[in-house]
Amino acid sequence: MGSNNALVRSVPAKDPPIRGYARVLANLAEGNGRRIRVAIRGWPGAIPGQFVMVGAGAEASVPRYDPLLSRPMAVYREHGPGEAGEAEIELFYRVVGRGTALLSEVGPAQRVSIVGPLGRGFPLVDCGSGGGPALLVGGGTGIASLYEFARALAEAGRSVVLLLGAGARDDLIGRADFEALGLELVCTTEDGSDGIRGLVTGPLETRLAEHGSAASVFAVGPTPMLRACADLAARYAAACLVSLENPMACGFGVCLGCAVPRAEEGFSLVCRDGPVFDAREIDWEGLP
Ligand SMILES: Cc1cc2nc3c(=O)[nH]c(=O)nc-3n(C[C@H](O)[C@H](O)[C@H](O)COP(=O)(O)OP(=O)(O)OC[C@H]3O[C@@H](n4cnc5c(N)ncnc54)[C@H](O)[C@@H]3O)c2cc1C
Ligand code: FES
Repeated sequence: MGSNNALVRSVPAKDPPIRGYARVLANLAEGNGRRIRVAIRGWPGAIPGQFVMVGAGAEASVPRYDPLLSRPMAVYREHGPGEAGEAEIELFYRVVGRGTALLSEVGPAQRVSIVGPLGRGFPLVDCGSGGGPALLVGGGTGIASLYEFARALAEAGRSVVLLLGAGARDDLIGRADFEALGLELVCTTEDGSDGIRGLVTGPLETRLAEHGSAASVFAVGPTPMLRACADLAARYAAACLVSLENPMACGFGVCLGCAVPRAEEGFSLVCRDGPVFDAREIDWEGLP
């Protein structure tokens, strides 16, 4: 699975997405983020790395136009259908603007709209086929996209190193969940309040120097971090998949608002063709 090989393909959904309303079970602050848990009927199950479009706030008795659009959020965790036949999913988010502020105000028993699961996820089958470990790199809220992938790899008995980076200890979302997976976990914080002081790309480079092209990198986080991961992976001829978090309006390929330039030619839609891409598919210079 080294970078001289063919592009590594992300995985399409098994089943079509659903559009519906989910019952909110909890929506609580955790560190500098919030974990919202909802119950939803007919949820088909997500591939790790897929996302949902979640309503910006509770379902209202009258239509809401400000903001009109839902917000993309990674499916952080899934819990299989319970007694009522509803699946439960968790999202982990930071309040950064109006949409997430309204979402933070939603309480138990209220409902939020959900469309999903959407996009293409991480390829479980190929991962680790280079013989070395899967290096899962999460930065900031990008960490939320990695939990189910890490869990699936752990269940498959793969060699995995989790590299989670954030500004400070309270930004390391879901840390206890990741610890409970029993995988090797390396945390970095920019202020040194937890783990290694500095950027997550530091320990990534150490691991790549150790394993070279046998390693596979799977990165989610801010664009500069993804680009740095892609550059490092290329330097060590390791395969690298990145999950882009471009702003989205529709989430399913209609508005063209999430287009990113391809390295070869033309554009890809992050919501439909991604968010998971082989890093070599992206024209990094052309990203905003
Ligand atoms: C596939 C995907 C998965 C995502 N998963 C998560 C997740 O699990 N948890 C989470 O907290 N966030 C996630 N995001 C980002 C999240 O969608 C945005 O933070 C959210 O839409 C902001 O909405 P808002 O109305 O609160 O902010 P807005 O008022 O829309 O924007 C507030 C500020 O945030 C910036 N911003 C908005 N969207 C993004 C973005 N996508 N990336 C970087 N900056 C942005 C704006 O430029 C502005 O400065 C994901 C995005 C994508 C595309
Ligand atoms: S968000 Fe509309 S096409 Fe991707």
